[in-house]
Formats: sequence, C-alpha cells, structure tokens
Amino acid sequence: MIDIHTHIIPGVDDGASSTTEALKILKVARADGVKAMVATPHVFSHVSKFSDLGEYRRRFFELKKKAAELQIGMEIIPGAEVFFVSDLREKLKTYKDLLTINDSDYFLLEFPPAVVFPGSREYIFNLVSDGFIPIICHPERSPVFRHDPLILYQLLQVGALAQIDAGSLRGSFGSAAYAAAIELLKYNMVHVIASDCHDPGNRSPGLSFLYKKLSSLGKHKIDMLVEGIPLAIVNNNAIPDIGPMVEPGKKSTFVDFLRGMLK
Ligand SMILES: [Fe+2]
Repeated sequence: MIDIHTHIIPGVDDGASSTTEALKILKVARADGVKAMVATPHVFSHVSKFSDLGEYRRRFFELKKKAAELQIGMEIIPGAEVFFVSDLREKLKTYKDLLTINDSDYFLLEFPPAVVFPGSREYIFNLVSDGFIPIICHPERSPVFRHDPLILYQLLQVGALAQIDAGSLRGSFGSAAYAAAIELLKYNMVHVIASDCHDPGNRSPGLSFLYKKLSSLGKHKIDMLVEGIPLAIVNNNAIPDIGPMVEPGKKSTFVDFLRGMLK
C-alpha cells in the first residue's frame, strides 16, 4: 500500500512532534503493510510552522536519512498538503517541486474546514489548464461537501480527484464524516484513501483495515484506492480508470443546511 497523505515530518505542523514520534509512525505503518508514504506537511495553513518552503524540504531529507539509517523499510516521498490560498496558481508555478507530490502534476489541496469559495469550479478548471491535478483532501469532513456532494462532483468533473481519510472510515471524525465517506464511495467519487496520519495513536497510520471494512467493494477496488492510483500519482502517470461517477441527487433545503451547521 502507498499512503499519499501523512504528517510525518517532525516539528513543521500539527503532525509528528519529534523525530522519535515520526519514526514510530513509520514503523507502525510498515508493520501494517504500507511500503511508501508521501510526507505532506500543511503549507500556507494556520498550523504551518514555517513560511520558507525550503525548510520543509530540509526536514524531509533529515527524516528520510534517519529512516534509511534505521532500515525501517519505508520509502518516503516528498509532497505537501496545500491550503487553498488566493494566489495558489502563481505559487504552484513558482514552487512546483516543493508543493506537488514527488514533483508530479498532482498535489493535495486542502479547502478551509467549512467553506467552498464561489468560483472554486472555475479556479480548479484553471489549475487543471495550467497542468496541475488537485487532489481534494477529505471532502467527507467538510460540512459543505457533506450537505451537497454535487458541489464536489462538479469539481471532479473539471479534473480534480478526491481523497478520503481512513480515519473517517474508522469513525474518528464522527458519524457524519463516516456516512459521507461511505456515500462518496457509493457515488464512485473517491480516487484515493490515505491515512492523513498525525501521530502513532489517535490519528494513526495504517490502511489494511480497509480490506475488511470495505469488503463489499471487492479487493480489486480497494487495491486501486490504496495502491494502484497512489502509485500512478507518485510516478506522475495517468490514473487507472475507475469507471463513471454517479451524479449525487440534490439534498435538503438551505434551512436543513443551517441546522446541520449548528449541530
Ligand atoms: Fe492532512
């Protein structure tokens, strides 16, 4: 398995707090059957600890070296979880090697927790026209996408991909995120499941439980979500075809949406 969303670089965001903790995450993941992890620290986010992107990369290489010395057997690949900022297109063009996964066309895109900006569809379209492929992180955790999956569907239609968190399927983010994750899988609107691990315990790595949890999807489909598509992403290849998406039906009214926000 290949985990394309992890917070394993110590001391750069709200993920691993020390090298010891980072190495523990790597060992837990390796024991679970994960053979490669993309290190995706939060950048341009309020939890990002540095504005100099080079600092993330320096610390990435320190961790990679340490893991190699200890022969953990985990391949560590560079990447980032990129917060949706207004000058994102310019930043991607300038810092492609530091913001994308393994200097590919693919990058992890984080929306603000409860906001999808008007014009996002056109912005994503423009990003794709620039040659980038945004992978929208954990839409199942966003009340906006949860309320109306059609908004996500429209972003995927113009070329974005969607990644859900394994933790959502463990129930770590509550019943609404769990239900939304299942719903998005049902609509075939999920391309990758990743751990989004932050520590060895509460927000832990590990993807193997998905084979049991999602057994109704079949092994081949789960292989695609945790290995086939992630492998294509890190190698900058076109992703394997997962078949057509199902267009989600319109959900409830705006009043219901507001009620949901107040829960
Ligand atoms: Fe993350």
